[in-house]
Amino acid sequence: MNQQTVLNNVLNNYAKAVAVGAYDSKLVGLGNKCDNVRQYWEDRYTRYVLSPGIRRLYERKRDEDGGGIRIMDLGCGAGEGWNIFTTLPRTSPTLDAQFNSLLNGSDIEFYKGVDISPAMIEKAESIHAHHNQTQFMVADLDRGLPVDSSETPYDIYFSSYGSLSHLSDDSLSKLVGDICEHMGDRAIFVADLLGRYSYEWPCYWGEFQGKGNHMQTYSMSYLYPPERRNTEDVERFPIRYWGGEEIDHFLRMIAENMNVYVGEFQLCDRSILVGRHTDTGEFNAEVSPFRSAINSLHAIDRRTDLSQLIFNYQPHPNHPHINRFFQNLQSAWNALVYGCIESLDMWRNPEKLLSEPPIECPPIVLDSIRILRRLINQAPNLHFDDPRANLIEPQLAYLLRNLEWNFQQGLGASHGLLAIYEFHR
Ligand SMILES: C[S@@+](CC[C@H](N)C(=O)[O-])C[C@H]1O[C@@H](n2cnc3c(N)ncnc32)[C@H](O)[C@@H]1O
Repeated sequence: MNQQTVLNNVLNNYAKAVAVGAYDSKLVGLGNKCDNVRQYWEDRYTRYVLSPGIRRLYERKRDEDGGGIRIMDLGCGAGEGWNIFTTLPRTSPTLDAQFNSLLNGSDIEFYKGVDISPAMIEKAESIHAHHNQTQFMVADLDRGLPVDSSETPYDIYFSSYGSLSHLSDDSLSKLVGDICEHMGDRAIFVADLLGRYSYEWPCYWGEFQGKGNHMQTYSMSYLYPPERRNTEDVERFPIRYWGGEEIDHFLRMIAENMNVYVGEFQLCDRSILVGRHTDTGEFNAEVSPFRSAINSLHAIDRRTDLSQLIFNYQPHPNHPHINRFFQNLQSAWNALVYGCIESLDMWRNPEKLLSEPPIECPPIVLDSIRILRRLINQAPNLHFDDPRANLIEPQLAYLLRNLEWNFQQGLGASHGLLAIYEFHR
């Protein structure tokens, strides 16, 4: 694919996504961009992981100069970064009547969103017209950080949902170098990338084909109904899939060359088994449609066939370390799913239901099964509802989410790899 075709495909892809309303945040529910997994797993996970670093930044700024926070959103789409920053949880959850967000709009001095897609920028401007401290701009990050020489440094150089995976290694290296040059004494850099070792695409785990070119083909075919996913009007474009160690090494090299230090950092796998391409099977015909199964667990008045959640991992011949990771997750995940199925089968037998689950599972699975059993025991007392669909299945979804979080190691073994780095001079 030549440069011009790549650019046209990226622009057409996102213009179509905007045209079908994917970036209006209205298409919620089962099969849309803001589906249940995006709302209940991905957005929450991103916020949770971001919170500790943003809290440190917020408290430092408050103690130093009392100024608000400046954020630059790289590949901002419809400006969803704004929503993420204004709904960050305080680090420890509370059960108080009010949910207190870590930052309010008034804590943000300036939020600048840049994106290559004019359609996205137009959408962002219309969504955020009432936020005075926002500004949006069409810019190509392949050319580096779009700032002018007098522009005040940002506290956070942010990206979400794969934007920086559109960049080649050279472009990302230039962008990060520019950030190191532009930042003040300290900054947080957030790279949200596609994980190289996601089970959605084992075809990409191997060595890179061709010197210097680390990009592989991707598509957002999940935005289309199944019968149209393989048609020609679905754009394909190159994407850089990253491993955790690989991006860590890459970022540290750039920082070192720019005489910038790396302080606290976090690498996190987000959506290990629930990436959008589990539903399309476009890059791995063996993967089960976990995303739609989890979407269904969260849906109201909808009972899910729980056997769809069983994970059958096929080991990769060349990646023992990644195999071990997935095999451990597979045992725990399946133990929890089977534990739920078996416990539901016992619902008429409280004595059996409240007996101890088998102890050969990891403690997190045992605790999860105990929670489910107590809930199943109580559920029939909710006389008017469908307790299986509306209480037990969402609870199972949250417990599986918890399991993912506890198992993740930031390997890039997931749809999304979040890299959060604090840089300082
Ligand atoms: C998957 S979307 C994510 C959008 C947004 N960050 C979100 O969280 O929804 C990726 C975004 O990166 C933008 N993008 C792709 N290549 C880019 C480039 N070279 N320069 C700037 N933006 C780019 C796309 O237009 C698109 O809006």
